[in-house]
Amino acid sequence: MEVANRIVAEILEGVKEKVQAGIETRELDELAEEMCRQRRVKPAFKGYRGYPRSICVSVNEEVVHGIPGARRLKAGDVVSLDFGVKYEGFYGDAAITVGVGDVGEKARALIATTEESLYAGIAQVKAGQRLSDISHAVQTVVEGAGYGVIREFVGHGIGRSLHEDPQIPNFGPPGRGPALQVGMTFAIEPMTSMGSWQVRILQDGWTAITQDGSCAAHFEHSVALTENGVLILSRL
Ligand code: MF3
Ligand code: CO
Repeated sequence: MEVANRIVAEILEGVKEKVQAGIETRELDELAEEMCRQRRVKPAFKGYRGYPRSICVSVNEEVVHGIPGARRLKAGDVVSLDFGVKYEGFYGDAAITVGVGDVGEKARALIATTEESLYAGIAQVKAGQRLSDISHAVQTVVEGAGYGVIREFVGHGIGRSLHEDPQIPNFGPPGRGPALQVGMTFAIEPMTSMGSWQVRILQDGWTAITQDGSCAAHFEHSVALTENGVLILSRL
């Protein structure tokens, strides 16, 4: 899983470098696929429940699962990239949100808070904590900054499958759910919006957008709880 997630991080870094005004989102998908071929790994999302591409590119009010296509990015867009691979039977999964050119103070703050909430959740991954301590830590950071935390999508266990139990909501009271134990591996993924947390799915059957059209952000890391504490697998 270390290798799978390192490759995910490398590919996300490569795709991030291509996020600029004028590029079509399908070019980002092509780059991710090319980088998978070079590394002889399988993109995890393509064909998953019929998802048609290798990467999710979600722009502005799109929260998650945006399908790359002919859309051209422009300055000021807020772009979430979500990507996973399968390597020797094990999965990696991570997401980042980046701005195209200058996105302005408000979007920068949303992006920064969302990443901060991910790290607050990761900080709860230690022996003695319960699963919902992760959820509560994320919610506290996001709502403390005045943003909405999406409830319809969750983080998850990860390993020999992309999505394993348990589900990891990004909200809820602390101290609930299973005790965290050495050997567990999770994908923690806060999804946030500048406005309300309600989402709806577009006609394509995938793209989730905020109901109020407000801007959204998404960060994700795959992590492992080891004897020596939490290891962030998908960080370069
Ligand atoms: N990171 C997302 C998740 O963990 C990616 C799933 S997209 C899909 O759910 F296309 F694979 F469904
Ligand atoms: Co995930």
